Amino acid sequence: MNQLLAHIEQYKKEITAIKISSKEDLESFRIKYLGTKGILKNVMGEMKNVPIDQKKEAGQLLNEFKLFVESNYEALANSMETTSVKDKSNLDITLPGQPLSVGSRHPISIVHNKIVQIFQRLGFSVAEGPEIEDDWHNFSALNLPENHPARDMQDTFYISQNPDWLLRTHTSSVQIREMEKGDLPLRIICPGRVYRNETISARAHCFFNQVEGLYIAENVSFADLKQTLYFFVKEMFGTDVKVRFRPSYFPFTEPSAEMDISCLICDGAGCSVCKKTGWVEILGCGMVHPSVLDNCGIDSNKYTGFAFGMGIERITMLLYQVKDLRLFSENDVRFLRQFTSAI
Ligand code: DAH
Repeated sequence: MNQLLAHIEQYKKEITAIKISSKEDLESFRIKYLGTKGILKNVMGEMKNVPIDQKKEAGQLLNEFKLFVESNYEALANSMETTSVKDKSNLDITLPGQPLSVGSRHPISIVHNKIVQIFQRLGFSVAEGPEIEDDWHNFSALNLPENHPARDMQDTFYISQNPDWLLRTHTSSVQIREMEKGDLPLRIICPGRVYRNETISARAHCFFNQVEGLYIAENVSFADLKQTLYFFVKEMFGTDVKVRFRPSYFPFTEPSAEMDISCLICDGAGCSVCKKTGWVEILGCGMVHPSVLDNCGIDSNKYTGFAFGMGIERITMLLYQVKDLRLFSENDVRFLRQFTSAI
């Protein structure tokens, strides 16, 4: 036992005095003290010579010694690292730096921001609402009672815990929430993600982004709607683009229309994007149905309003001539990188 103690003391002294100046020194230290045939193993081997009644004490001593060697090794290794950083003699400051790759906004965000900015300049403010909606805000209040055939126009994801809950199929639900607050006049745009149970293809996805707009005040007319949307199209696509309205049907507007713009890909001559018609539909719109106003506690004899809704993906595809909707959600940097300068 005494012999063991003496050995340990001697090694400790030796270790404390050690100075290293290179990685090789550090490795020799490791091999000498911590290696498989190293001193630590040797000293541990001496345990067998210690009498039984002293084994416990010797075990503690050996453990302490083991920790001592290990912590010294770590300290030496750390000091090596700091000195090598400090040692600038090998540093070549003429080497080129590590290039940082520049990020970019997602094309959908770019177009979302553009749309929002255009309407903000007309005095619209942004309103947002929940993506999980109840039946009232997504359907019933919008003049789509249960079993109304128009509900089939939008295949809906329902939430199994509660049949009243669903993933909103449009952001018209936000318009209802804002109208229910009763602050008039109301001039809002509602951007956000919406969900529909559709088979994924180049032209459809189970989720996409919309911007819907709503203006309610006294004496709002269809002429106001047209003028607002003309302004939007010119700002978004330029002054050369032609616009046309077609009569349509939505349960929440009367009269209702769809708005087309002349095809930006073929300039109206006819191509696969515009299905050879020269026109592309970009939004639905109309005068808010009096029943919708009544459902939200707004006096439909006093107030009128217009509403419109468009898909951001559709606008982005036209603007940047993107042919496949799936590219927007695949996160392929080769696609996304093309929009670096478009921010
Ligand atoms: N909610 C409709 C849709 O998702 C789009 C729409 C049409 C919104 C007419 C409107 C509107 O606000 O007035 O297909």
